[in-house]
Order: sequence, then structure tokens, then C-alpha cells
Amino acid sequence: MLQGVNSETMLYTVIGDPIRQSKSPLMMNRAFRETGTNGVYIASHIRSAQLADFVTSARVLGIRGMNVTIPHKVNIMPFLDILDESARVIGAVNTIVNDNGVLTGYNTDGIGYVRSLKEEVAPHLAGKNIVIVGAGGAARGIIYALIRENVGSIVIANRTLEKAEELAMQFRALANISAIAMNEFATVCAHADIVINTTSVGMFPQVDETPFDVTLLREGTIVSDLIYNPLKTRVLELAEQRGCPIHGGLGMFIYQGAFAFEYWTGKPAPTVAMREEVLAALTTL
Ligand code: ATR
Repeated sequence: MLQGVNSETMLYTVIGDPIRQSKSPLMMNRAFRETGTNGVYIASHIRSAQLADFVTSARVLGIRGMNVTIPHKVNIMPFLDILDESARVIGAVNTIVNDNGVLTGYNTDGIGYVRSLKEEVAPHLAGKNIVIVGAGGAARGIIYALIRENVGSIVIANRTLEKAEELAMQFRALANISAIAMNEFATVCAHADIVINTTSVGMFPQVDETPFDVTLLREGTIVSDLIYNPLKTRVLELAEQRGCPIHGGLGMFIYQGAFAFEYWTGKPAPTVAMREEVLAALTTL
């Protein structure tokens, strides 16, 4: 049931380089159809040298909403009029709202991830002990969102200790947060309620790799992986066999989009339909 495009139709787009692999247009156009929103969402292949021109075009055309993906999440920031706290703290933008020419940048990756974690496996995060494996941009977004849930403690475990220490330092005024090298993982794992992989270890095509030793996990510890290709990574498979509740990365993608949809339209996102659409696209490749 495709809606007619008419003179009231609002434009939306995701920008990136490359972009043709993106599942955002399928997911967002489904969300528009489900909610009777008069919008069209396309994928725009924008190279780095075209970023300034793109922002001018977005203002001229009145593109209502944008998603920003690799490699533009940081470089887009100077072109925007307002940066939401999420974008300022994380240092990257993945969602833009255009209010009559005023462009506001948000970062919905971390809060999207946490909303998915809560809805799927861990409704109560307050007071929980969290171990985050990896110390890159994805970890930063998740830490920002977890702190807003008043978690009990956060330990960042990383191959390169210095990067984990830097990240912990940045948030130290806001949370009980510390950094360790991977050889101390066994000790923290014993007290963890939730272990989250934010590294790319286990992503297609390296599907047999695991980011940490699964035999160190206690039964009952929730194990979460940001990767959604494959939908169930090796580490999740092994954790499940040990009696751990598991949480895959697809939810993060769905809910970062859900927040973007809600910022643009003011309507609750139809997350069940959005997930159904993306899952169908991923499983019929
Ligand atoms: P993103 O922005 O997606 O988080 P990133 O900034 O490149 O990506 O961060 C990748 C994280 O995964 C880093 O913490 C990296 O560890 P280092 O800081 O030691 O580089 C981690 N990572 C990537 N590949 C890894 C591997 N093969 N083994 C262990 N950690 C790895």
C-alpha cells in the first residue's frame, strides 16, 4: 500500500559513502507507510568532498530529516546549527532534524542500543554492573546512554588499555567507570550482570572469532553483541549454550532509527514493522 507522492510530501535521506548496502530506506519507508506519514526516504551517495554542498542542498530543498553514516558522522558536525547533548558528548551525529532551516544534530546510536537492550533482555538497568569490550566510537555512545540509566558500574575492557583509560577518564565525573586490559577480563566477568561486545570481532566474514573467552562467563550473565551480520554471532551462540540470555545487534539498528523517526515526526515509531522489514531484507539476500 504505497502512498501517493504529492506536493505535501516531505523528503528524508541517509547519507554515506558507500550507501547502497543501507537498509534504512526500507525500514523508514515502511515506518512512514505504517503510520500514514507523507514522506519519502532515499539513500544519497555523498562523498566527503561533497558534504558542504549536500548541507546547502538539504537546506534549499527543505529535507526534513537525515541520517548520517560512515564516513560523515564526525565531519558533518561543523555544518549544523545546533548540536544536541547526545551529539556533543559522543562527538558524532547520526540524525539531523531540519526545523524550517535550522539543522539540529543528534546521536541516537547509544540510546537506540539501550532501548533495545531494555525491551529485549534487561528492563531494569539501574545498579547493574556492566562490562564493555572495546573502546571505540560505538562504546562511547553506549556508555553515554548507560549512564543515563543509572547503572551501578561500567568497566571498559580493551585490547589497547590506553584507549579504554582515555574513554573512562572522559566519563569519570558522571559514573563509576574504570578501564582494564583484556588479561583482567576474567576477574571483572565474575561480577558482571551484562557483558557487551562493541568491537568488530565476529563480524562477517570472520564469523568464527570471539572477542573474549566465553568460558569465563557466569550462567545468567546477559551477553550482548552490537554486530548484526551475522544476526547471532559465535560469541552469542556459545554464551547461549552456557545459559546466558543473549541480545544481538539488530535491535540497535532498529531503535536508532526509531528515535530518528520520532524526532522527525513526533509519532511513536512502529518498531515491530520496522524490525520485520529489515529482517526480511537481511534473510533474503
Ligand atoms: P567503532 O567506532 O565502530 O567502535 P573503532 O573506533 O575502530 O570502531 O573501535 C574498534 C574497537 O574494537 C577498538 O576498541 C579496538 O581495539 P583497539 O583499541 O585495541 O584497537 C577493538 N578491536 C577491533 N578489532 C579487534 C580485534 N581483532 N581484537 C580485539 N579488539 C579489536
